[in-house]
Amino acid sequence: MTQAFGLYQSSIGKKVVMAASGVLLLGFVVMHMIGNLKIFLGQADYDAYAAFLREVGAPALGHGELLWLARLGLIAAVGVHIVAAVQLTLMSRAARTERYQKPHDVSLTYASRTMRWGGVIVAAFVLYHLLHLTFGTVHADFEEGAVYANVVSAFSQWPVALAYMACMLPLGLHIYHGAWSITQTLGIDGPRVAALRRIVAAVLALGVTLGNISIPLAILAGLVR
Ligand code: HEM
Repeated sequence: MTQAFGLYQSSIGKKVVMAASGVLLLGFVVMHMIGNLKIFLGQADYDAYAAFLREVGAPALGHGELLWLARLGLIAAVGVHIVAAVQLTLMSRAARTERYQKPHDVSLTYASRTMRWGGVIVAAFVLYHLLHLTFGTVHADFEEGAVYANVVSAFSQWPVALAYMACMLPLGLHIYHGAWSITQTLGIDGPRVAALRRIVAAVLALGVTLGNISIPLAILAGLVR
């Protein structure tokens, strides 16, 4: 325990925590996107999927209990991901001012800045998204349990659909740089695997971005109604 805490004090330890929580969050985002694509199968399939998420685990677990366990894991992953990111930013700032250094690796600085600002935008998006499609606080026609109808009525308004599509771009960049950094933290590095790392990161980022964008786009175009 003390050793684990000691490791976390170092920047490597924080990066490992960021990578582990990042893998969990990426897994959720990919599964959520695949689940949401069920909207193309129609209302019955999409609503049945939403109901299944609440029933899964029965009869050993009660209604919604496994979903709440998954939510708690997700909240913990978001929490440690943000705390480690803030601590790493503060550490790298302190190291720079102490040594009176200017950042010398321009591409690295660009990537880490994109990650920081992208992370802030993604966090703001998720907060809005929860108030919008989970709690319905900022959704005028929200109906508890009518998941398909809530999504369709939300994206039938073009400013909302456009805002969602715009938010998918920083999310895509975040996933691209994140997937790239995770492999580095795990030691999958070097010139021989560089191309493969780029391809895997690009496929994940493009897949999630295009998959998510396709939903508001299809509703806006009247293909899903
Ligand atoms: C256009 C793309 C998206 C659509 C159509 C969509 C749709 C939805 C819907 C309908 C819900 C409520 C589900 C229910 O009550 O059963 C939901 C919940 C949620 N979404 Fe999304 N989502 C999208 C993108 C995203 C993205 C990109 C993220 C994360 C970066 C995200 C994170 C979440 C989270 C954390 C929840 C709450 C899950 C829960 O606690 O049950 N969503 N989404």
